[in-house]
Amino acid sequence: MTKTSTAVVATTKPFHADIHALRERARQNIDDGAVTAGYRADRATVVQLLNTALATELVCVLRYKRHQFMAQGIHARTLAVEFFEHAAEEQGHADLIAERIVQLGGEPDFSPDGLSKRSHAEYREGTDLPSMIEEDLVAERIAIESYGAMVRYLGDDDPTTRCMLERILATEEEHADDLASLLKRFGRGEFL
Ligand SMILES: [Fe+2]
Ligand SMILES: [Fe+2]
Repeated sequence: MTKTSTAVVATTKPFHADIHALRERARQNIDDGAVTAGYRADRATVVQLLNTALATELVCVLRYKRHQFMAQGIHARTLAVEFFEHAAEEQGHADLIAERIVQLGGEPDFSPDGLSKRSHAEYREGTDLPSMIEEDLVAERIAIESYGAMVRYLGDDDPTTRCMLERILATEEEHADDLASLLKRFGRGEFL
């Protein structure tokens, strides 16, 4: 059989692909769907990591929804809109993560039993607007740390999951920045 291959020659790092081998490998284990023989990560571990990320996002949705409806005082409307937007974005993250878990042949864990234990971030309600914002900021900082660790763990072994987590991480950094600005802008005294 003729070996079909392509070589894209760059000046410093040439790219070679054995198209025949690539086509053969794609036909093996087709029940695995998007997961091919070239997948280099430990799939069970990645699914487990993604389920902790899913739990973290769901806990964040619940905390932001609580804050959206509990916001009181002169700045309540502005902050309720902010909490609403963050909740919607965390829900979007949860959906992306659940979709990726299924692509990897796993099952997304949406069970409310043990949800807060599976989550990296805690569900802390806060007692007033400043403490709500502080709890949200702490949760975002936890998410930033844990997504950073997941991105480093995945490296080049699962670039699709890594890219998805990098995009989510960028949004969590924006959330943290928004919350830090809110605390600075209003200061504790302004809320009381
Ligand atoms: Fe998120
Ligand atoms: Fe966030």
